[in-house]
Amino acid sequence: MDDLYLVLGIEPDANPEMLQERFRFLAQAYHPDKFASPKQKLLAEEEFKKINNAYQVLSNPIKRADYDKQRKYSINYSNRNRSDTLKKAEEAARQRAQEELKRKAEEAARQRAREELKRKAEEAARQRAQEELKGKADQAAHQRVRAVSKSKIVAIHSFKSGTGKSFTTANLAAQVAQTGKRVGVVDVDFQSPGLGSYFGFDEKNSGKTMNDYLQGKATVGEIAFPVGNNGDGTKALSGNMWLFPASSRGVNIHLMTNQGVDFNRLNAGLQNIIIEFELDYLFIDTQSGLGEDSLLAVATSDILLIIFRPDSQDVQHAFATLSLAQALEVPSIFLVVNKALPKDDPSQIKKDIEADFNARVAGVLPLFLDMVDDARSYLFSFRYPDHEWSKGLRAVAEIISTAS
Ligand SMILES: Nc1ncnc2c1ncn2[C@@H]1O[C@H](COP(=O)(O)OP(=O)(O)OP(=O)(O)O)[C@@H](O)[C@H]1O
Ligand SMILES: [Mg+2]
Repeated sequence: MDDLYLVLGIEPDANPEMLQERFRFLAQAYHPDKFASPKQKLLAEEEFKKINNAYQVLSNPIKRADYDKQRKYSINYSNRNRSDTLKKAEEAARQRAQEELKRKAEEAARQRAREELKRKAEEAARQRAQEELKGKADQAAHQRVRAVSKSKIVAIHSFKSGTGKSFTTANLAAQVAQTGKRVGVVDVDFQSPGLGSYFGFDEKNSGKTMNDYLQGKATVGEIAFPVGNNGDGTKALSGNMWLFPASSRGVNIHLMTNQGVDFNRLNAGLQNIIIEFELDYLFIDTQSGLGEDSLLAVATSDILLIIFRPDSQDVQHAFATLSLAQALEVPSIFLVVNKALPKDDPSQIKKDIEADFNARVAGVLPLFLDMVDDARSYLFSFRYPDHEWSKGLRAVAEIISTAS
């Protein structure tokens, strides 16, 4: 029902005179006779009725008093209702906010729990890796007690391939043999065998390899390839140097890449070689990277040479290798920089790296661009003994020979 005071457009405390005056004004203004169109007439009639009805009530003091009472109650009631609704809305909003907070707290707790779990899993994995490393170190230490106690295993490792690992291994081993020591050199880089060519080994003619030994098809004595027939004064090596090559046949490389190396058998083979050939040194050309096979070869060595080029990424990788080798407790570790550029100052490189690594640099060998022939088919340091690279290499050989 319309508010009668609003219908007449007066305040609720308007006196009878004001009421009457207003009514007369409105009654005149809305009188239906004043409107021409039937539609307007109808609207005016409705309005006129409302105005008339409002005036009938409000002009009668008793009816007005009754109406006022009823009006007041309905206003209070709607106010009360409004405040109830307001309260409920506020309560609901509070409730929602509380639930949101609770949800967020639960989500944060869940997140924390997840992170904690992840951290613990990572920690456990690190712990396991460390324990495994420790286990390998212990095992390697045990294996280092050589049957021929004076003999030493020298492993040559590089993180990347192509750094000159095989090239350096072949030449180093030969230089040490040149001093009269009994030397073996074994290729355990089964995925990228490359040592044989330096000594004139041809698998097609010469036959057996370390792969045959690992497959139980040959003894170490049957694999040994005597060094001394590859020109350039290598004759001097005959009788005190042997190569134990790896197979370059595709099927063998595939097999070793897929199955990995039986390390116990390989280690037994290395020990047998040392014993049978009464070696002073056994050089091993390892696989690049830090996979299981190369780490185990590193772990078994008495002397480790880490070869790398003097670029920042190689240096970083060498550092990673060094810290693993230290964790494996390899007794003597040396760094060798190969392929130093002509613009590089070798003594500065040595100084910088030794300061950064806290490890000894046994040599900084230059990159050579002046050789046109295939440097893999002979011993470079024998054919070009006066080359800077050969001189640097002999210095490394000297350090190895005197390392305890
Ligand atoms: N200082 C050098 N200057 C120029 N060429 C070099 C130098 N050292 C090695 N080389 C050449 O670099 C090539 C790669 O050397 P090598 O085969 O010894 O690498 P590697 O580290 O054994 O690689 P992989 O891991 O693939 O066996 C060879 O052709 C070698 O003659
Ligand atoms: Mg190689």
